[in-house]
Amino acid sequence: MGNAEMEEFIEHVTERTDIYSVVSRYVPLTQKSGRYWGRCPFHNEKTPSFSVRPDKGLFYCFGCGAGGNVFKFLSLIENITYFEAVKLQAQRLGIEIPAKKSSPEQERRRREEKLLLKINELAQDFYHECLIKTARGEVGRKYLAARGITTETIETFKLGLAPDEWETLFKKLTRQNFSAQQLEAVGLIVKRKNSFGYYDRFRERIMIPIANIFGHVVGFGGRVLNNADETTPKYLNTPETALFNKRNLLFGLDKSNRAINAAGTAIVVEGYMDAISLFSAGIKNVVATLGTAFTPEHANLILRYARKIIFCYDSDEAGQRATLRALPIVQQIGAEVFVVKVPDGKDPDEFIRKHGKAAFEELINNADTLVDYRMNYVLAHTEYGTTAGKFRALQEILPVIVKVNDDVKLKDYLKKIANALSLDEYLIEDEWKKISSITEPDRNAVVIKRKKLAAEENPQLKAACEDILRMVWYEGDILGYVLALVPLENFPEVHQEIIKWIETCMAQERRPDQMNAAIELSDEANAELARILIKGSDQPRERELVVFDDSVNILRLDMLEKKYNKLRAQSEKDMPNDEATRFKIIEELIKVKEEINNLKGNR
Ligand code: UTP
Ligand code: MN
Repeated sequence: MGNAEMEEFIEHVTERTDIYSVVSRYVPLTQKSGRYWGRCPFHNEKTPSFSVRPDKGLFYCFGCGAGGNVFKFLSLIENITYFEAVKLQAQRLGIEIPAKKSSPEQERRRREEKLLLKINELAQDFYHECLIKTARGEVGRKYLAARGITTETIETFKLGLAPDEWETLFKKLTRQNFSAQQLEAVGLIVKRKNSFGYYDRFRERIMIPIANIFGHVVGFGGRVLNNADETTPKYLNTPETALFNKRNLLFGLDKSNRAINAAGTAIVVEGYMDAISLFSAGIKNVVATLGTAFTPEHANLILRYARKIIFCYDSDEAGQRATLRALPIVQQIGAEVFVVKVPDGKDPDEFIRKHGKAAFEELINNADTLVDYRMNYVLAHTEYGTTAGKFRALQEILPVIVKVNDDVKLKDYLKKIANALSLDEYLIEDEWKKISSITEPDRNAVVIKRKKLAAEENPQLKAACEDILRMVWYEGDILGYVLALVPLENFPEVHQEIIKWIETCMAQERRPDQMNAAIELSDEANAELARILIKGSDQPRERELVVFDDSVNILRLDMLEKKYNKLRAQSEKDMPNDEATRFKIIEELIKVKEEINNLKGNR
């Protein structure tokens, strides 16, 4: 689909979409004074502060600040991208989605990728059939049964068995006209080193298909049947291929994403078997990393569905160290992090098989916060009987707390540490300040409070900015006029983003609209825009113009008064000796004062 075609499509869907009927599918709405109200689906609330204005095609929550047009709403509530939301709505309306037009190169790559996915799917079927239907699957069935894995779970995860044979899969797939290059490209076969030909990579292993979030198999994990044989690794995975990249794959996410979304929480475990075991025991909001460290990509994948991440790694030293390494990554990305340490058994799989679902849920409900976990870990690993020991422990714990953004929580933690180490709270606070000024120079500034623009603190200025923005939104042409009187830096930062964007639109000769705003503006700016537009008055046009002029004056006046004060201060402090410069400053002062008086006279 070309650009014009795409725009036409989006316009068509927009025209036929009514935000009220879309939203009320998810949120019961009641009408009050020209708009609809409901309880916000994006945060917990008892009294409705979520409002929808069908006349403007917008929603906004006065409680949590979520806002935007109907597709923004859909993308938030369905956890899909903006364009997917447009397509979803098109589907619901029965509007045909135009086919994607792509370059021949893109087309070729798409076909190749499809082919590789097909190969993996066929391999999955082969392994699966081998496990459940053939005599040589017997060893696999026995192994899984001994681990308490039911036939239902085998079906859910399409588990399989790679037989103890060197070329069966290779031959089978080449007979179906796939080339050796293609099979090698997905990692299913390996080139022989000392002779001609290829052999199957996976042999005599339980096969665990690994899917991407769309449920397409992109690789496999293979577990040996026999732990005793130490010459082969316990798990063999698909090597890195065009489809299989461990950095941004999480095992199980294709099956668990709904549960993760519903629970608002994802449990991250270390092994496939842990994920399979928890999932089949009814703990469905679980994913596993693929034998690699937890990456920011993993965190972002999860954040599409939930804000809360609970790490439940193996209880051995390696697992605990992996947990410690994962934590800062997740924390930095903005997730809420918790940690469960399995008290009995090596890993979650062993624990749940021994103690059952309820006991595991109990563990989850009592998960440690990141800081508690870190604290306990440090306390368990340092001698803090002596003063020197106490300070060593502090140096380990405090860096984690430096990242806590909530002042109340911060206080709580400092108190907790003080108790645990039996140190004076103030001492700890001092030490915390020292560390935070080194590692996060900005942090102290945050605590002191972000320096706000005048426009953000003064309600009158804030309202003026909003009135102006609303007017500029509907009439981009007046932007030049506004900025000549009130330069950009006098607006709050989010407004600056919106104004700059409108400027860009005007320069490109397109009208700023909700659709593009939702795509091109940051979430914060987009929500702010929705808030401002939704607050828009229903006053007649002349009245709006008066409000607009007044608002520009308010901002300009504020700006001039500041300028005047600054010039005054300057002239009092270090008035230059040279006559000409002095005169210039005084002239400027008079000019500013005159305009101030003028503006005041007008109001
Ligand atoms: P574990 O050794 O903890 O395995 O490795 P596990 O999950 O408890 O497996 P079972 O219960 O013995 O069957 C955790 C993860 O590390 C990776 C795998 O992804 C595994 O799930 N791993 C482990 C490998 O990639 N290769 C190995 O040889 C071992
Ligand atoms: Mn295990």
